[in-house]
Amino acid sequence: MSRKIVAGNWKMNMDVEEARSLYNDLNDVEYPKDVKVILSPPAIYLSEFALKNNNVFIASQNVSSCSNGAYTGEISASMLESINVRYCLVGHSERRQHFKEDNELLAEKVKQLLTKNITPIYCCGESLEERESAKEKEVILNQLNKGLFFISKEQISKVVIAYEPIWAIGTGVTASSDQAQEMHGFIRQVLQDNYNQDIAENISILYGGSCKPDNATEIFSKPDVDGGLIGGAALDANSFKKIIHSF
Ligand code: PGA
Repeated sequence: MSRKIVAGNWKMNMDVEEARSLYNDLNDVEYPKDVKVILSPPAIYLSEFALKNNNVFIASQNVSSCSNGAYTGEISASMLESINVRYCLVGHSERRQHFKEDNELLAEKVKQLLTKNITPIYCCGESLEERESAKEKEVILNQLNKGLFFISKEQISKVVIAYEPIWAIGTGVTASSDQAQEMHGFIRQVLQDNYNQDIAENISILYGGSCKPDNATEIFSKPDVDGGLIGGAALDANSFKKIIHSF
């Protein structure tokens, strides 16, 4: 099975008309058969898109760490399942940073999603300060160990991992393709150490952080980079389509 994925994280952007128009532009197209295309709109638009007959997959940007009940404002994994959402971002650096989500909470979110057969797209990444003090691998390992590696072999094989250096997100500064490959190779190695080679070879590891049409081909050409989690460039249909055709 192909590991290639291009996922668009729309973050907190667009009113309903803009979102519909972007969705329609991206859903009405034929994509290369070996590339999975995922769109992650704001929660309020999820049911409208996910309940359609989709050419693309729909991901939530967030899920509650609780299963149901008196948790005002939260959206549960079973609600996502009930509207056919098959993917969900977990641990994006913006949620870690602005909403104080730590690895323990993220582990609960991963558990909730897996009970409903929703694929977590588990994000990890180091800050500029951590990279400058050569701690990037230690940070990634800690995020993976605490938030993800408690799950079984069967469960991990359903997960997607996104490596997103915080210093590259929305900044216009991208990791070089060699930096990306080094970190992706490291993540694949720790997957092998914690699980096995077969699992490590089959998991999709996406790069995120200022990935654009003009750098995607170079980044995606690296052996352990299986595609991208795209922010800014996913808000423009033409840019996003170009990235999808960058393998
Ligand atoms: P960016 O965002 O492409 O705008 O840097 C990536 C992300 O946050 O997933």
